[in-house]
Amino acid sequence: MKNLKNKVAIITGATSGMGLESAKLLLNEGAKVVLTGRSQEKLDALKDQLNGDYLLVKAEAASISDSKRLIDTTVEKFGKIDILFLNAGIFRLEAIGELTESIYDEVHAINVKGPLFTVNVANEYLNEGASIIFNTSVVNVKGFPAMAAYASSKAALRSITRTLAAELGPRGIRVNAISPGPIDTPIYGKHNMPQENIDQMASSFPDLVTLGRFGSAKEIATTVLFLASDASSFITGAEIPVDGGFAQT
Ligand SMILES: NC(=O)c1ccc[n+]([C@@H]2O[C@H](COP(=O)([O-])OP(=O)(O)OC[C@H]3O[C@@H](n4cnc5c(N)ncnc54)[C@H](OP(=O)(O)O)[C@@H]3O)[C@@H](O)[C@H]2O)c1
Repeated sequence: MKNLKNKVAIITGATSGMGLESAKLLLNEGAKVVLTGRSQEKLDALKDQLNGDYLLVKAEAASISDSKRLIDTTVEKFGKIDILFLNAGIFRLEAIGELTESIYDEVHAINVKGPLFTVNVANEYLNEGASIIFNTSVVNVKGFPAMAAYASSKAALRSITRTLAAELGPRGIRVNAISPGPIDTPIYGKHNMPQENIDQMASSFPDLVTLGRFGSAKEIATTVLFLASDASSFITGAEIPVDGGFAQT
């Protein structure tokens, strides 16, 4: 029995990493899935990897007009929305004193404004019982050098999770977050630091993680499935750490 048969899901930033693994799992569970990305080339390359009822939509996460088009296209093709995984995000590192306004604005536009306004435009098309899932990070509860812009964007999302859970709860809509620890995805190749600094930071992670390793995107996807399904029907406003104990022990 497929868990998500006839459910309509949108996953932002689904061309790689956690978004892509989540899309594959939800498709496998019978959902109709809309995958977004900002690169048409990367979206086109997904066609060989996906099975099931899906739609690929090019949408810049920071653009409210793109979010509006994404929602309209989804509703036109599949009907109203049951699952919204606001996953698209970028990671930037800049030490204090070197932080630029444009980096701060870029990080907060993609990581905070985009997810919030996607819910804002999706609101009238959310089915009763819908599940909204934000992708936060352990950095919203732990301090790491050079992460002021990134960590504050994830802390904002954690706060938005609670606010929207309170606001949408009366309609039976649940709003939760997943807080990943270090997860092995392509994000560590997309940053604004010398690669050796990133390698040095990444090499310290296994020692800091209680389970002694990086997590996998599949381990995030199974948590997305849990939060998207009725298995989590009495959970809202929560943030589930999927961090191997990184921020817990
Ligand atoms: N990996 C970790 O250790 C870790 C830990 C905690 C939290 N997270 C969070 O997890 C989420 C997923 O990251 P990931 O690790 O799976 O990395 P990823 O493989 O880089 O996936 C990020 C996805 O978001 C897309 N994206 C980025 N900026 C976008 C924009 N402006 N408009 C539309 N799409 C955009 C990327 O597309 P492009 O490839 O075209 O940029 C990609 O599809 C992010 O929110 C990240 O902050 C990651």
